Amino acid sequence: SHRIMLGPLVAAIDQGTSSTRFLVFNSKTAELLSHHQVEIKQSFPKEGWVEEDPKEILQSVYECMERTCEKLTQLNIDISNIKAIGVTNQRETTLVWDKETGEPLYNAIVWLDLRTQSTVENLINKTPGRNKNHLKHKTGLPISTYFSAVKLRWLMDNVKEVHEAVVSHRAMFGTVDSWLIWCLTGGKSGGVHCTDVTNASRTMLFNIHTMDWDTELCKYFGIPMEILPRVRSSSEIYGLMKSGALSGIPISGVSSFLFCLGDQSAALVGQMCFQDGQAKNTYGTGCFLLRNTGAKPVMSEHGLLTTVAYKLGRDKPACYALEGSVAIAGAVVRWLQDNLGIIGSSEELEKLAASVGTSYGCYFVPAFSGLYAPYWEPSARGIICGLTQFTNKRHLAFAALEAVCFQTREILDAMNQDSGIPLTQLQVDGGMTSNKLLMQLQADILCIPVVKPSMPETTALGAAMAAGAAEGVSVWSLNPDDLSEVTSEKFEPQINPEGRMSCLLSPLA
Ligand code: G3P
Repeated sequence: SHRIMLGPLVAAIDQGTSSTRFLVFNSKTAELLSHHQVEIKQSFPKEGWVEEDPKEILQSVYECMERTCEKLTQLNIDISNIKAIGVTNQRETTLVWDKETGEPLYNAIVWLDLRTQSTVENLINKTPGRNKNHLKHKTGLPISTYFSAVKLRWLMDNVKEVHEAVVSHRAMFGTVDSWLIWCLTGGKSGGVHCTDVTNASRTMLFNIHTMDWDTELCKYFGIPMEILPRVRSSSEIYGLMKSGALSGIPISGVSSFLFCLGDQSAALVGQMCFQDGQAKNTYGTGCFLLRNTGAKPVMSEHGLLTTVAYKLGRDKPACYALEGSVAIAGAVVRWLQDNLGIIGSSEELEKLAASVGTSYGCYFVPAFSGLYAPYWEPSARGIICGLTQFTNKRHLAFAALEAVCFQTREILDAMNQDSGIPLTQLQVDGGMTSNKLLMQLQADILCIPVVKPSMPETTALGAAMAAGAAEGVSVWSLNPDDLSEVTSEKFEPQINPEGRMSCLLSPLA
């Protein structure tokens, strides 16, 4: 059989909270050629704690690469056409490993984890005026359980192995991107210990103005700077793939290159939001609305984060974004499935909710991990209210979908207030966007159209684009016009603003 001739291919490792994926794109057309996905186990060892196994995460990456390569070979596509591999990842999730043995010293503490709640409350109490925004001028972030610094502090204080490794200069800290890239580029025999500016900007140790680790912030959290990875732009060659299905594949004489970008930044790039004012909302485990603010970091007055959106090349300027983070979106679906058992799969949720088309006055606030934007209240917990004897699981299913939409509405309102220019439509992506009922509800609740690209893997596409555009690879230009027409589906609001208000305020009417 003969091989299909294609242009250069670019791949992405998308390591999210709930699953890992490996995807391969044609860099001429942005067409997704093949992919494979593996679910990631989450453990909840105590109330509020969320952990993942670093080795399982790494293994899932190898498995996805291997299976995707098999699928490509079956399609007669030559995998040596893969020119570059972008890594995109769940951000903030915190790992420490031993650089001599290559072993993780504890599970990964997932971004959603609440074990640092009391530490955070103590830190805030000690700031002048009990101000959770005490470090915001440097970091763009409120002091919260969400970010890596407090998780790392917890590991140093509570895990003997971590403490000892730090003292004996054997410890390496990283978010998931750093862990994966270190392992994939050789691990204990010469792995590259690095991260990119987008992931670094979520640690609370990074100064988003100087674009570097900040001595004062590290002192504040008591973090030795030698355990931190080197910070690089999101689109430059970090190292060569030394293990797994793609190691040693000669690509223009060398093995595949690695690059990285936090998943929400990657989605912004994949949605082509390169202009100041453009925004996207990604419905993953949580849901994250980012609005590009161009070359200047805008400080929110309404509870949003200021974050580094991307820096696409060593000598390119950084671009910033305002971000509204919602901790629980897709996670509520998994909760209905695993904890309540009222659905067997995420597809069933749409059917169940659609069968009644109303929550019948039932409201669900899934504040399982406290409330993120715009409240930043770690002590909040979930609530279901408005129950009557008539309420059944269908209403609860509908209320769960509405909860995702209401949370997005709050973020959008904050975003509009901060920027003064209301968004006229919302670009969306992520797993939950395959739920048409959710998309329609979202348009109705926002009162603006919701636009979803027909290729839903925008996070991976963005990471692949950043990798393919890097100096030394240059198979992909980041000019949106160069990409073949992006087709999309549009959900128009179907109820007028008065109708929406009455349906929100008096659901029993
Ligand atoms: O900040 C956490 C975020 O990066 C996780 O994204 O897609 O795994 O919900 P996701």
